[in-house]
Amino acid sequence: MTLSIYDYATLTDEECDARIIAAKATLGERCVILGHHYQRNEVFKHADFSGDSLKLSKNAAESTAEFIVFCGVHFMAEVADILSRPNQIAILPDLAAGCSMADMANLMKVKQCWSELAQVLDVENEVTPVTYINSAADLKAFCGEHGGIVCTSSNAEKILNWSFSRREKILFFPDQHLGRNTAHRMGMDLDEMVVWNFTKPMGGLTVEQIKNAKMILWDGFCSVHQMFKPEHIDNFLAQHPETKVISHPECSLEVCQKSDFVGSTEFILNTVRASESGSRWLVGTELNLVNRLNEECPDKEVHFMSPMICMCSTMFRTDPQHLVWVLENLVAGHVVNQISVPEKEAILAKEALNSMLSVA
Ligand code: 13P
Ligand code: SF4
Repeated sequence: MTLSIYDYATLTDEECDARIIAAKATLGERCVILGHHYQRNEVFKHADFSGDSLKLSKNAAESTAEFIVFCGVHFMAEVADILSRPNQIAILPDLAAGCSMADMANLMKVKQCWSELAQVLDVENEVTPVTYINSAADLKAFCGEHGGIVCTSSNAEKILNWSFSRREKILFFPDQHLGRNTAHRMGMDLDEMVVWNFTKPMGGLTVEQIKNAKMILWDGFCSVHQMFKPEHIDNFLAQHPETKVISHPECSLEVCQKSDFVGSTEFILNTVRASESGSRWLVGTELNLVNRLNEECPDKEVHFMSPMICMCSTMFRTDPQHLVWVLENLVAGHVVNQISVPEKEAILAKEALNSMLSVA
């Protein structure tokens, strides 16, 4: 019988710590733990590999472990399942760890958008569907089926170049900000981009607007990164003008335009780590990463961009209690919380993911 999560609820973090270490030692190379940078410290410290979405998807593809325990969110564990070999098992310690941005696009709405666009455009020849990796597997499969591709925050520019070399327009979902920031940095005018409002017929756009657009941006966003505002940067710089500002591309265009650097979580970490001793940074991304970076770099000043606490509540769901629960079940011979993408969907999604991995 599987061990019940309810028997773990009252364990302290310290008790979990010792038991996670023991379970990992027993499982040895049979198990690998992947940890996204937004994970809380109590979990993050147990990761064998940490990284941004791109790096972790490569770790998952290269792993030979029987069990891939993903301390991240649901779409990341789906990617691990899709890219790993058939006998490997992807596990998400808390099944409620989703991504609210990923949920802003679903297959029904994207198919509806595609068929509405088809009334105006020759979609299969004119439009490349590009999904941010923060999306459900069926949307990656949709891209695979329609000559499209997946991107992450660290390879978006290369992926947009790949897409534009094939077809003249891009339908980009679910994050409008990553799409807009990337295309704008590549030199595209804002008036060549439109936002597809998925609650309205034809996305709320006219035929002319659709025909003239190069980027059709899904009306999705990250509820964490939308909290960072240009005035947070202005206020901070007014007091400390020499500060370097660095943001994640899920932030708004206005925030990214006021930033000295824009990039993925891995890019943010590497840039601040490599900076001069004594430098001061204002960072626009999730709080757990910023706090850890601050502790890691005592020779620098690392500040969180917002006066509000912006944590990714779903990343936070993975706690040491869930982690030890899944590991001790594996030790006892039980798999709990397996993430398994249906085969038909996985084949198509893998096409779109492999296209991405071959580009960047
Ligand atoms: P990264 O790929 O930059 O780690 O971003 C993932 C994410 O969900 C950011 O909100
Ligand atoms: Fe999703 Fe935003 Fe959380 Fe990233 S920070 S996992 S985009 S909700």
